[in-house]
Amino acid sequence: MQLGVCYYPEQWPQDWWADDAARMVALGIRYVRIAEFAWSRIEPEAGRFEWAWLDQAVDTLHAAGLKVVLCTPTATPPKWLVDADPAMLAVDAGGQARGFGSRRHYCFSSPTYRAQSARISEAVARRYGQHPGVVAWQTDNEYGCHNTVLSYSAAARQAFREWLAQQYATVEALNSAWGNVFWSQEYRRFAEIDPPVGTVTEANPAHRLDYRRFASSEVVAFNRIQTDLIRQHSPGRDVTHNFMGFFTEFDHHDVSADLDVATWDSYPLGFTQDFFLSAEDKRRYARTGHPDIPSFHHDLYRGMCQGGRWWVMEQQPGPVNWAQWNPAPLDGMVRLWTWQAFAHGAEVVCYFRWRQAPFAQEQMHAGLNRPDRSLDQGGMEAAQVAQELRALGPVVSDAIVAARASAATAGRVALVLDYPSLWMAQIQPQGADFNPLEISFQAYSALRQLGLDVDIVSSRAELAGYALVVLPAHLREDSALALRLEASKAQVVFGPRAGSKNQAMAFAEGLPPGAFAKLAGLRVQRVASLPPGLEDSVRWPDGSTTANSRWREDVQALGAEAVAHFADGKPALLRHGRSWYSAGWPDEAGWKQLFTLAASEAGLQTHSLPADVRSTRLGEWLFVQNFSSSTVEFSPSNHAQCLLGARALAPQGLAIWKLSASA
Ligand code: GAL
Repeated sequence: MQLGVCYYPEQWPQDWWADDAARMVALGIRYVRIAEFAWSRIEPEAGRFEWAWLDQAVDTLHAAGLKVVLCTPTATPPKWLVDADPAMLAVDAGGQARGFGSRRHYCFSSPTYRAQSARISEAVARRYGQHPGVVAWQTDNEYGCHNTVLSYSAAARQAFREWLAQQYATVEALNSAWGNVFWSQEYRRFAEIDPPVGTVTEANPAHRLDYRRFASSEVVAFNRIQTDLIRQHSPGRDVTHNFMGFFTEFDHHDVSADLDVATWDSYPLGFTQDFFLSAEDKRRYARTGHPDIPSFHHDLYRGMCQGGRWWVMEQQPGPVNWAQWNPAPLDGMVRLWTWQAFAHGAEVVCYFRWRQAPFAQEQMHAGLNRPDRSLDQGGMEAAQVAQELRALGPVVSDAIVAARASAATAGRVALVLDYPSLWMAQIQPQGADFNPLEISFQAYSALRQLGLDVDIVSSRAELAGYALVVLPAHLREDSALALRLEASKAQVVFGPRAGSKNQAMAFAEGLPPGAFAKLAGLRVQRVASLPPGLEDSVRWPDGSTTANSRWREDVQALGAEAVAHFADGKPALLRHGRSWYSAGWPDEAGWKQLFTLAASEAGLQTHSLPADVRSTRLGEWLFVQNFSSSTVEFSPSNHAQCLLGARALAPQGLAIWKLSASA
C-alpha cells in the first residue's frame, strides 16, 4: 500500500524539480509517473532527441528516493510528425480527420504511426530501461479516451478487410453469418466491404459488431508492439496501461493479457456527473461520488492481470475540469477514496497530479498543490493517508497485502463482465435506455449494499470457487461458459437477454437464452422494451412488491418455477435448481430481493448496511467506509479489534477492523 503522483517536469522550471521531489517524499509519496505527453520535448524534430532534461528529471526523482513509472509518449504525436504523415490521423464517422491541437489524434490502424510509436517507445525504453530509478512502465495513456478507438481511415478500412478475410476465410461464409441476403447486402469480395458508416439507415448489426471486434483487436496489437519492446529493453520491470472508468470500446481483458499490472484512472465526481445516474443521485453524490463507482472499477481491474495485480494510476485530487459540472469533493473524500482503493487490493494509489498547471486545457483541474506551489486540500489528505499507513506499521500493512495476494474466492461473488456482450447491447439496445453497463453496475451496487464482496471477472475466468455467479448482461452465446456453469456448484443469476445473440449478432441457437437454456430451464418467447413511465410491479413471495422498468420478457418455463410475478401473473423471476433468471430490469429493491434469495441458497451471509455505508473484506480485515452525510455506528462483532477509526463513523469516515478468527 503505497502512494504515488503524476508529475510533469516539462511543465515547470528545472530549478523547481529537486524541491518538488523532496516535498513529494516528505509528504509520503513513493512513486512518480512521468513523461506520457512529452514527445515534443523528447524529440522536437524528426530524429533530433533532447534527452538532457529527461535524464535530469529521472535522476532528480531517483536521487530523492522516488520510484519512477516511465511512460511511452504515444498519446500525443507532435506536430512535425502529423504534418509529415497526415494519413496517421484517426478519421471520424463523418469522414473528418481528427485535427492536431489536443491529444489522441492517431489511428490505431495506421502502419506508419505504428512504426513511429515503436520507434519512439524503443528509444525511450533503450535509454531508461536499465535506469535504477525506473521501476515500471506505462504504455501510451488511456487508450480510447475522447472516443478514439473507432476510426474510419483508409488504413482502418484496409485492415478491417484483412481481419474479415482471416475470420471468415470466404466471403460466402461472411454473407451467410451476417445474413446479407437481407436487403441484398451480399458482397462478392472482401475488398468490397467498407466500415459500417454512412449507410442510409442502421448498418447491419453483424457488420457493426465485427467492426467493434476488429477495432478492439487493433488496440491490442498496438499495445503489444510497445510491451514487447519494453520487455526487451527493460526486463524485470512491471508493464502497465492506465485504463478508464465506464469505458467499453475495447476488450480490456484482451489488452491486459499483455500487462503485468492493470491500472485505472479514478475520477468519482466526474463519473457521477457524466454517466447514467439519475438527476437525484447526481445531486446526492455530487461531492462524495457514488460509493460504488470507484469500487466497481477496483473490482473490475483486479480481475485483469495475473495474480490480481492492480493500481489506481490517477486519483481525483479535487475538482476536475471535464465533467458537465465539477464540484469540489467534501473534505475527507480524497482520503476515503484512497483507503477504499487499498481496501479493494490496490498496490499503489497515484494522485493526478502533483501541481495544477495554470495554463492550457486542464488549468481548471486541481492537483495536490495549487499553481503557486502551496499545498491544496487533496495534498493534505494524501499526507494524512501516508501518516496513517505509517501508524498502522509494516506488520499490519504486510498482513493486508498478504490477504490481497491470497486471492481466495470463498465468500465472494463473481460478476461476469464480457465486453463483446456489452457491444451487442450497445449496437442493438432495442430500447433507448437499455445500457448493459448500467445494469451491470446496478447489480454490482445491490450486491455491495448487501455487504457482499465481488470479483468482476471475464467470461474466461476460473469460476469453480465461487458460491454465487452473476451475469447481469451476458448477451453473447457462450457454450463454453454454459458448460462451466453447469459443472460448477454455484448459484447462477442471469439478467435479461442472457445468451440471446451468437458471435455474428444473430439469434443464438433456438430461442434465448440459447446455450444457457439447459441451466435456466426456460425459453424466452417475446421481449419488449418499456418507455419511461411504463413500469410493471413485481410481487415477491413475502408479499412485497418492487418495480420493473425498461425491459420485460415473456418466458415459457421448461422446468423452471416462477419465484416472483409481474402484475399480470406472468413470471418475473424464475428459478431452476441453481439458476435464477430475471425476465426484466429490476429496480434496486428488486435486485436486493433476488440476491438475498440467491445468496442465502449459496450459503453467503448478507447484511443490511446503513445507507451509503460500505464494508469491504480482505482476508481477516474489514474496511468500513461512510459515504453518507451522517455519523453512523458500525462494528462487525464484539471480538473485532479496531485499528483505525472507531465504531462511530463521522461522514467521510473510515474504520479498519481486524476480525476475530471466528468472524
Ligand atoms: C485522464 C487523463 C489525464 C488527465 C486527467 C484529467 O483522463 O489520463 O491525462 O487528462 O484525465 O482528469
